Amino acid sequence: MNEVLSTRDMLKRAQKCGYAVPAFNIHNLETLQVVVETANEMRSPVILAGTPSTIEYAEGENIVSMAKVAASKYNIPIAVHLDHFENIDDIKHYIDIGFKSAMIDASHENFEDNIKKVKEVVDYAHRYDATVEAELGRLGGQEDDLVVDEKDAMYTNPDSAKEFVEITGVDSLAVAIGTAHGLYKGEPKLDFERLKEIRAKVEVPLVLHGASDVPDDLVKKAISLGICKVNVATDLKIPFSDAVKKYFKENPEANDPRKYMTPGKEAMKKIVQHKIKVCGSENRY
Ligand code: 13P
Repeated sequence: MNEVLSTRDMLKRAQKCGYAVPAFNIHNLETLQVVVETANEMRSPVILAGTPSTIEYAEGENIVSMAKVAASKYNIPIAVHLDHFENIDDIKHYIDIGFKSAMIDASHENFEDNIKKVKEVVDYAHRYDATVEAELGRLGGQEDDLVVDEKDAMYTNPDSAKEFVEITGVDSLAVAIGTAHGLYKGEPKLDFERLKEIRAKVEVPLVLHGASDVPDDLVKKAISLGICKVNVATDLKIPFSDAVKKYFKENPEANDPRKYMTPGKEAMKKIVQHKIKVCGSENRY
């Protein structure tokens, strides 16, 4: 493959073959390394996702450069994706420096304004062969700086989804079917009937946000009903941090990042392996 890709072909192929491409939220060199090394070992396509605060923290240029190195080193499809971006100028800027995939999250806007914003991003991104994801409906929970109260969460309406995709020309659609960002209080209840209806009306690949802490069988069922991209953040962050905390507890004098980061990477790797299996994306390339 040799270059960072848009998500167009990898999601179309997943859609056709009935699996999902995992999108892992990364934050720095170490988390990016774990994701690409593991995906390569398992021959899985993979999406490296960065929220606005991650891209600000690590700097977009660094993330793109590291992803490019990984793409030239490993012969699997690797995309680098802007996750939950709300500012159109920021998206344009990051597309200019090499991002080939972006989510414009205008799900808090009314239907018309959501369409308007998404269309503007689609028109720009497609000129650079970049792909765009949008969200219709609204997920509750917290994703980095984005916090949506449960009372403001809203399920995706299948008819509106059809209209939304047709008017905007968006490449993939994030649907709200009962998942939320972060951890759940009880077991999440996914509205599979709604997902089936959306799938029947919408042709573009569908995206499941908030896949952490959702039982594997529910994620697999969502994939069998048409989800082609599964977003995971929290389930990676917790074991990474827990392992680093444990290392410091056992080695209070530790001060070498190469040593204390390693158990975090190992703990995260196990989850990445597991999620790739749940997505059914292993050995696809
Ligand atoms: P979780 O943190 O719940 O896995 O959500 C991740 C996500 O949807 C990123 O867009």
